[in-house]
Amino acid sequence: MAIVSVIGTGYVGLVTGTCLADMGNQVTCVDIVEEKIERLKQGILPIYEPGLEEVVERNVRAKRLRFTTNYHEALEQCEFIFIAVNTPTGANQGSADMRYVESAARNIAQELDHYAIIINKSTVPVGSGDIVSRVIYDNLKRSDIRFSVVSNPEFLREGSAVLDFQNPDRVVLGSSEPEAAGAVARLYLSLRAPIMITDLYTAEMIKYASNAFLATKISFINEIAQICERLGADVKEVAVGMGYDKRIGRAFLDAGLGYGGSCFPKDVRALAYMADEAGLHPQLLHAVMDINHDQRHHVIDKLTSLLGTLRNSTIGILGLAFKPNTDDMREAPAIDIIRWVTTQGASVQVYDPVASETGREALNLAGVYMDAVTFNTTPYEVAQNADALVIVTEWNEFKSLNMQQIRNSMHRPVLIDGRNIYEASDMEHYGFIYRGMGRGTAAAPSILPPEDISSLVNRRPTLSLV
Ligand code: UGA
Repeated sequence: MAIVSVIGTGYVGLVTGTCLADMGNQVTCVDIVEEKIERLKQGILPIYEPGLEEVVERNVRAKRLRFTTNYHEALEQCEFIFIAVNTPTGANQGSADMRYVESAARNIAQELDHYAIIINKSTVPVGSGDIVSRVIYDNLKRSDIRFSVVSNPEFLREGSAVLDFQNPDRVVLGSSEPEAAGAVARLYLSLRAPIMITDLYTAEMIKYASNAFLATKISFINEIAQICERLGADVKEVAVGMGYDKRIGRAFLDAGLGYGGSCFPKDVRALAYMADEAGLHPQLLHAVMDINHDQRHHVIDKLTSLLGTLRNSTIGILGLAFKPNTDDMREAPAIDIIRWVTTQGASVQVYDPVASETGREALNLAGVYMDAVTFNTTPYEVAQNADALVIVTEWNEFKSLNMQQIRNSMHRPVLIDGRNIYEASDMEHYGFIYRGMGRGTAAAPSILPPEDISSLVNRRPTLSLV
């Protein structure tokens, strides 16, 4: 059992602290926001994350997990101090804002009175480990106090964060002191994952390179989607066909509205910025960002090509969160789409199973004209009298709606499937004018009779394999 402190009770901090407690360690989570800590003490979590509440409750009850705003209390006898505060995009078109990391480092230094290993989990620009060391060193209350700094980038995804923490593909540790990295490695041994120990800069770069590569995969398939649409191929099947190749893999090849969230947009920008600053020309990263921006705009193109003007039209929006199983609205495509259509004079009816509150805040912050936005409590209300329905987030519940009822309640039967969760033939059968993302129709019959197996086999190579 180790004594651990985690600074920051956001996504990464709360999941890391809770899961480390669940592995038998004594964990104190610290945050400077008193209200957040008060609510956590009452068992109210600041984020929606499946499974997390139960693990928090179990470990608080077992007295392995506690919450405080007091650094002194948190660092007493502590062996490992995780920094897990956010690093938003800074003022400089992409640079990461290190303000919170530096202030956490200062607070640690001012309370530290014994040797401890400081582990950075926040995504920080390459070289930041040295900055953390310097800030701590400069603010220590006694010059004889020793400490080590280790970088331990986080790879968990919102919506499956607890499972990701418990089943990592790898644990990456970077330090100029291998013994310190080795001590941190022991914390993770029971997870039975590959543990890679490297230097500080390389560990920090592994995080950026991993996120940038996944974002590149998404922008790549979105570019292919555009080409598919023009040439009459179906990107969904193209992705399946490509994914059988083990060198490519099927994951992260879902074409749609592009990536959002608190990580990919910020990290690709930050990596491009670091490269620019180093005098390089990261052309691929810039293309990844451009494609991602344009992808959202294709929804507006589709709407205007089918409806003509959007003025006085009613657009139904299904899903607000940047992806399912979260209420996170950061850089969510819904924000841009709603802003663009309302600017053109449309009103919108929206529904999201969990992101109504965060959605309202995010739309407000983005300067959306809120009188044009109605929040509904069911997908069926969203469709009522709408001129078009847009699927923005692929929540599971949208996959089993009564589409006939939806179609019948709409004013005009336009369905834009931003996440490719439906099949054109099924939707056309209900009478929709259906448009997916990258789903060319050149070779596809407009309505496929379900009993016509031979045409299905010709049309779907994946089915012919089984
Ligand atoms: C991402 C990474 O997947 C995590 O490994 C990493 O730890 C995290 O960022 C981080 O840096 O903290 P996350 O942002 O939670 O995790 O979400 P993902 O599930 O990776 O999805 C990111 C975005 O890509 C979403 O907007 C999603 O809709 C989009 N996406 C994903 C696609 O458009 N197509 C795909 O095929 C996959």
